[in-house]
Amino acid sequence: MAEVHVMDHPLIQHKINFIRRKEVGSKDFRSIVGEIAALMCYEATRDLKLQDVEIETPICKMVGKELSGKKLAVVPILRAGLGMVDGMLNMIPAAKVGHIGLYRDPETFKPVEYYCKLPADCDEREVFVVDPMLATGGSSSAAITMLKEKGVKHIRFMCILAAPEGVARMQKDHPDVDLYIGALDECLNEHAYIVPGLGDAGDRIFGTK
Ligand code: PRP
Ligand code: URA
Repeated sequence: MAEVHVMDHPLIQHKINFIRRKEVGSKDFRSIVGEIAALMCYEATRDLKLQDVEIETPICKMVGKELSGKKLAVVPILRAGLGMVDGMLNMIPAAKVGHIGLYRDPETFKPVEYYCKLPADCDEREVFVVDPMLATGGSSSAAITMLKEKGVKHIRFMCILAAPEGVARMQKDHPDVDLYIGALDECLNEHAYIVPGLGDAGDRIFGTK
């Protein structure tokens, strides 16, 4: 069964609480989403493998540690996932970036696919799928299915807010995918929005409402 990591870092909790406020405008919302993504990236990469590497400092030779193992990729689910990409790349600048375009049909809440462009070697990479919101889980589950169909075997999912319904859906559909969650909220409302949530993440990041 997948591991579910709910972030307990005080900076992450403080920043999430800030962007929940309805009066926060797009400029601040967007930049703090980026900061949260960077902090979450730090937590979600704790178990990456290291190898010993011999280097020479200006003083002497030494054996230090560097990342080994699989190369990394970040795959945002469009649109709102875009808001997390720069924060991730600040921490893991060598990662390649793929894009999956999905929107949630407002009547059925089912995801509709409209774009998919991934690094050619993404099946050899450790892929971090990012989306600020895990509500019903339909979008993230569909995005991960698309990645698996392209042969990707090592996937982690990161979101800023999750509803228990979305976590359950991901655990059922993708028990092999570890979840990194900024804050776990109470439930979904009748429009399948997260409660208490922060509203529509894409609209708040891009100022479209
Ligand atoms: C939002 C959000 C997720 C999805 C979550 O995207 O960014 O992708 O809804 O809901 P789910 O778990 O029920 O699928 P939205 O469809 O609003 O598109 P956008 O990012 O373009 O605003
Ligand atoms: N998508 C969002 O942007 N917010 C929600 O609360 C649910 C889905």
